[in-house]
Amino acid sequence: MITKSLKTNEIANYRLSIAPMMDCTDRHFRVLMRQITKKSLLYTEMIVAQALHYNKNRNKLLDFDEIEHPISIQLGGDNPNLLAEAAQMAEDWGYDEINLNIGCPSPKVKSGNFGAYLMGKPKTVANCIEKMKKSCNIPITVKHRLGIDSLDSDDYLMQFVDSCSLAGADRFIVHARKAWLNGLNPKENRTIPPLQYERVEKLKNNRPGLTIELNGGINTVNDCIKALEVFDGAMVGRAVYSHPFLWTKIDSVIYGEKEENLSRSKIIKKVIPFAQKHLENKGRLWQISKHIINLIENIPNAKRFRQELSENSQTKEADISILKKIAQQLEDAGH
Ligand SMILES: Cc1cc2nc3c(=O)[nH]c(=O)nc-3n(C[C@H](O)[C@H](O)[C@H](O)COP(=O)(O)O)c2cc1C
Repeated sequence: MITKSLKTNEIANYRLSIAPMMDCTDRHFRVLMRQITKKSLLYTEMIVAQALHYNKNRNKLLDFDEIEHPISIQLGGDNPNLLAEAAQMAEDWGYDEINLNIGCPSPKVKSGNFGAYLMGKPKTVANCIEKMKKSCNIPITVKHRLGIDSLDSDDYLMQFVDSCSLAGADRFIVHARKAWLNGLNPKENRTIPPLQYERVEKLKNNRPGLTIELNGGINTVNDCIKALEVFDGAMVGRAVYSHPFLWTKIDSVIYGEKEENLSRSKIIKKVIPFAQKHLENKGRLWQISKHIINLIENIPNAKRFRQELSENSQTKEADISILKKIAQQLEDAGH
């Protein structure tokens, strides 16, 4: 479905975002998160520009629901023309902004030499950003690391950011650790190189006019509040994915919205109409339940509820009654 993009100044108000994560931040997870926070910016998983160019099924890659706004599409690639084409498609499809992935060191990006590898090629990155800016009218943002391998000094980081900014990048999301392209796998690259918030702070202090968000190791709403004292935005990944219910106060605490009394059962009930539509379109229930399961923790019998949802959702025949039953059981138990 093509939906209408928000205006650029509306996007700038979103100070908290949920990080792009392959195999996690699909449209089902995003719909779940929208029941928890109406205000935060959501990201897609990375979509490779080549895939949008060649895949006849590109509508499926691009599709999202109206309620997912504000939503940023994350693109991967190093070909300026393909990225420009993808940016235009994303704008036409109704995305609110486009994020270029320069932080991910997965095997997929290694074979294409993009993602974090592009931190070593600032000219190519600038060229990509320039072409993307020319092809659309929505913000282009960059998600990157502190550095890669030996290209890891503060000066190099600043030159990289300056070059992106000159090319037209509207915002920077800095994963506050470097990546080792040889020797560490993607998972290790998210844990072993130490977090260095002070280096992102230095960047912000040296470039106060740029919009700079902090990412990496933000685990609680309080961590976000602290980050927002220094940075223009905070991006959270794993802590939100694994513990979505711990984030139900974001809108009231961060955005000053009236507090909504959300419960696990209420959230699941709100997801049910979307799940129903997904099943009618020949989707599987498990594609949705696998995210919902993470909601069910920190309550008595959590393990039993999770087990029941997991076992009953994974069959081909699993239908909406499974979600309805779990929601009801949780409500009856006061959750
Ligand atoms: C399973 C998984 C998949 C990820 N996929 C992407 C991705 O597609 N693009 C990207 O820029 N970062 C990706 N990341 C990195 C996150 O966006 C984020 O930068 C990283 O997890 C650090 O933030 P956190 O400590 O809040 O999780 C992924 C992380 C995880 C755990």
